[in-house]
Amino acid sequence: MTTKSTYTSTDIQAIFNRIAPVYDRLNNDLSLGMHWVWKQMTVTWSGAKAGDVCLDLCCGSGDLTQLLARQVGSVGTVIGADFAPAQLETAAARVASIYPSLDRIEWVEADALDLPFADSYFDAATMGYGLRNVTDIPRCLQELYRVLKPGTKVAILDFHRPDNNLMRQFQQWYLDAIVVPKATQLGMMAEYAYLNPSLDRFPMGAEQVKLGLAAGFSRATHYPIAGGMMGILVLTK
Ligand SMILES: C[S@@+](CC[C@H](N)C(=O)[O-])C[C@H]1O[C@@H](n2cnc3c(N)ncnc32)[C@H](O)[C@@H]1O
Repeated sequence: MTTKSTYTSTDIQAIFNRIAPVYDRLNNDLSLGMHWVWKQMTVTWSGAKAGDVCLDLCCGSGDLTQLLARQVGSVGTVIGADFAPAQLETAAARVASIYPSLDRIEWVEADALDLPFADSYFDAATMGYGLRNVTDIPRCLQELYRVLKPGTKVAILDFHRPDNNLMRQFQQWYLDAIVVPKATQLGMMAEYAYLNPSLDRFPMGAEQVKLGLAAGFSRATHYPIAGGMMGILVLTK
């Protein structure tokens, strides 16, 4: 695969199918395990509680899905949805081997732009590092709005460009000097070179808030975290 300036949905699906075997290891190594803290914050801010029916959209290998499953307990249900079958296979195998008791997870192959769920079906939703990757952000937010029950929330975790110039330079250096070389070692250079252009195109906090409100949500707040290098957008229907 070569590096491009624009990526289609099919390109993105191919990238995530291909990186499935190394995705977890890279996430852990590159964030020094911190992504688990950010993901737990996302689950907490989604408002998910015991007994809820929850959605983890763009679930990938299922980190947020398993945290949500622990949050909703044995009487709740969690659906992990993604359009890359290789990611779903990794997720199902990994969660089954680590947490055999988390048996109320369903893995569903689905496009975030056309969700196969009824209106007002979910009590809470999460999405981690997915919004930056969909080809139509307004449409994805409209779909999330449609499938959530009135008064419930989605919490959306993703990269963010820090306002502070020094942090911004640090983030750029980290992506160029650490992330891409590490991915290159694992034979995934082109796939991770995609991260920077995807971040350049991604709307930042205030714009995300506007997009959330335009999709119909009644409240939208963006919380910069990790020195502004990451952010969590919380939308209430
Ligand atoms: C960077 S991974 C994030 C995985 C996981 N949520 C995490 O936080 O580790 C992004 C995921 O979004 C999925 N994705 C991208 N566009 C999608 C779409 N239109 N519909 C469903 N899944 C999509 C990819 O297949 C990939 O698994």
